[in-house]
Amino acid sequence: MSVSTIDIAVKKTTESRIAQMDPANIQFGKVYSDHMLVAYYEDGEWKQPEIVPFANLSLSPATTFIHYGQAIFEGIKAYKDANGNPLVFRPRDNWKRMNRSAERMALPAVPEELFVEGIRKLVDIDRAWVPTSEDTSLYIRPFLFAIDEFIGVRPAEKFMFMIITSPAGPYYSKPVSIYVQDEYVRAFPGGIGFTKAAGNYGMSMYPTMKIKEMGYDQILWTDGFEHKYVQEIGTMNVFFVLGDKVVTPDLKEGTILAGVTRDSVITLLREKGTTVEERPIAIDELAEAYRNGQLKEAFGTGTAASIAPIRALTYHEETMELPAMETWDVANWLKKELADIRYGRKADTHGWVLHV
Ligand code: COI
Repeated sequence: MSVSTIDIAVKKTTESRIAQMDPANIQFGKVYSDHMLVAYYEDGEWKQPEIVPFANLSLSPATTFIHYGQAIFEGIKAYKDANGNPLVFRPRDNWKRMNRSAERMALPAVPEELFVEGIRKLVDIDRAWVPTSEDTSLYIRPFLFAIDEFIGVRPAEKFMFMIITSPAGPYYSKPVSIYVQDEYVRAFPGGIGFTKAAGNYGMSMYPTMKIKEMGYDQILWTDGFEHKYVQEIGTMNVFFVLGDKVVTPDLKEGTILAGVTRDSVITLLREKGTTVEERPIAIDELAEAYRNGQLKEAFGTGTAASIAPIRALTYHEETMELPAMETWDVANWLKKELADIRYGRKADTHGWVLHV
């Protein structure tokens, strides 16, 4: 299969639900576009994919992913340029990451053409659902899960790959306050921290619920051995501006998701001449930088939130209040630079944008 030759059958809806989208009030993940892509994997191969009207699934209660969590997903966004043409940001990078997750979770690799051309065609068909105003986009959710009707524990043999899309506004409406987690753990070396496995998100619900009750927005996860080194923040990668350097945890131990936004941020900053260090970051180093006035900015990065500024970090009894976001150089520059590329206002010198 090549991108141009993959055969995706299309059955269009006769009743668009586009009226459900209120362009003036787009919330994340509330409304789904008219169509979805569905592909089955059986007998060791992918069957012909289809784009069909968005609809409920009918699955046996014995379907294996419901019980054992052999399920992964991705998140990508499409934007509209000034001429109303949709642009998808770095879908091939998400495809590569999906297959890294798939391998670890004993799921079959998804062919590039199925993933990338599937997204392109789905966005093309539902292009009216890509909103136009600043800070809005069409969130694209590919996902892959095991569908054997079998509750014995073994790697499954039948799978479904799907893509759904949903118009999205800003993920966070204001800078977030963060609680440094030193009880619960997100990931250990050798585990699945580097994957977008459903279980990584499922396990975060209880600790996140707890810190929300305490008045915080998100968790800064730390390593499970000493609770000393920072990993990720909520569902995002994390960056700190220390003096004139930018630091972010490295990916070596496999406990951190290799974010596509993370990579874009590192690339853009390095091109600009900013020093970016990918390395272990101890929470004590951040606390000391804060006391010395060197902790200038802190922000999360991810597809859903893009750049999410942090207003405060609480570690034990100490709350580190960051300066007002309006004064930040790095995050504000990145936000604009990324938006300019994504909305097609700036030349795509990295080959990041897929034109629909
Ligand atoms: C993303 O940024 O795409 C995420 O993974 C967040 C998502 C779970 C809503």
